[in-house]
Amino acid sequence: SNRTFTMIKPDAMKNGHAGVIIDRFIKEGYRIVALKATRLSAEKAGEFYAVHKERPFYGELVAFMSSGPIIAAILEKDNAVTAFRELIGATDPAKAAEGTIRKLYATSLGENAVHGSDSDENAKIEGDFFFNGLERI
Ligand code: GTP
Ligand code: MG
Repeated sequence: SNRTFTMIKPDAMKNGHAGVIIDRFIKEGYRIVALKATRLSAEKAGEFYAVHKERPFYGELVAFMSSGPIIAAILEKDNAVTAFRELIGATDPAKAAEGTIRKLYATSLGENAVHGSDSDENAKIEGDFFFNGLERI
């Protein structure tokens, strides 16, 4: 597929990085298919990250993701899922390559600035979690 799903997480929102991150998406050639500012309830954050339910960090992750506003978006580019995960860098910003979004803007492993879908299947599921048909262009 040529689409992926992303969130600008609460740390990047609070730290004033949302604009420069969206600018980077555009400069890297992604077309914005859908985009909105929203806030996840703890229940919705738990549902979104249900795959990590058994992990020790699940509670912390859900609390963080519901701690403030986020920006959710669907982005389009060739090979979007793989290319986008390369653009954001490793989960832990300390291990992320120079110039990646997490290296530049993330706070820590738990508060790592952005989300990127890990497969075409999940990109579709995650995009559908936030956006209906009328909200996509
Ligand atoms: P996402 O794009 O957010 O899904 O990140 P990822 O695919 O690089 O990582 P993964 O799906 O394995 O983990 C989801 C999120 O859980 C990460 O982005 C982190 O925010 C958080 N996370 C992962 N490992 C840890 C951890 O050891 N401690 C804490 N506090 N959070 C973690
Ligand atoms: Mg993931």
